[in-house]
Amino acid sequence: MKPFDKPHEHILISCPADGVVAIQLNRPKALNALNFAMMSEVVSALEFYDRQETTRCFLLHGDEKAFAAGADIKEMAHSTAVEMMQNSHITRWEDIKNIKKPIIAAVSGYALGGGCELAMLCDMIVASDTAKFGQPEIKIGVIPGAGGTQRLTKAIGKARAMELVLTGRLMSAQEAFESGLVTKLVPPDQWYTASLELAKEVASMPPIAVRAAKEAILKSFDLSIEAGLEFERRNFYLLFATQDMREGMQAFIEKRKPTWTGK
Ligand code: CAA
Repeated sequence: MKPFDKPHEHILISCPADGVVAIQLNRPKALNALNFAMMSEVVSALEFYDRQETTRCFLLHGDEKAFAAGADIKEMAHSTAVEMMQNSHITRWEDIKNIKKPIIAAVSGYALGGGCELAMLCDMIVASDTAKFGQPEIKIGVIPGAGGTQRLTKAIGKARAMELVLTGRLMSAQEAFESGLVTKLVPPDQWYTASLELAKEVASMPPIAVRAAKEAILKSFDLSIEAGLEFERRNFYLLFATQDMREGMQAFIEKRKPTWTGK
């Protein structure tokens, strides 16, 4: 794995398995509150490793106590509306949706406010069954600003999102799982290992098909059903131009394990 080419102080980067790049939010004393510098580092690191052919899947995680307890309130507390609008800090988060390789959020502890929004920007969330999710911004006089009103509503529906955002109530991991926000719930001591297992499984799949599948699923949020189906069909046909498609189907016929080349 190539070293990340930009200076960074709030994240740790590792390669815990072949093809898996893990990015750790690392401000434990502040429950990984997402300050502007940290988010810039996260997005830049994702972009850097997304460009490496060897990267197959990302794992984004915090520590046992917190994935992230939100945007850094202390950093924002004295900002003006004009400053918030003029700097592009929050807009930058949206660049995560252009990352081609799948991103798994491994959540233990708090995923609140911007932390919940960051987890929702990922493609899947694996959570400890003691994790807490929520958009408590209303309690500090604002509303979610990095996608919470949109992505939470799409994930769990208007009725539940409205109550959570208007009261700031935190959701248990069980509730988040039953609402459809969380992919997989695991015992507290397995949040990292279970996430890594899932990342390894995704990393072992044919990479061009993984990319096409992720793109097509994400399109379903923006396109009409007709346009989405057309997009899916085109991606499906395109995969017939890959060596991995020939290999996958031939291996099935010959009753053997396929070997993917990513071509
Ligand atoms: N920003 C800055 N610092 C934070 C923080 C945040 N979002 N969350 C926690 N911290 C800091 C605390 O200030 C504290 O620091 P000190 O030791 O220097 O005082 C440290 O982390 C530990 O936190 P607590 O002592 O509060 O820990 P706790 O276990 O008693 O409570 C908690 C945990 C319930 C998560 C509580 O910290 C909390 O409510 N945090 C704020 C949650 C929140 O409101 N998040 C939304 C932020 S706004 C946002 O995210 C906007 C957006 O949409 C982009």
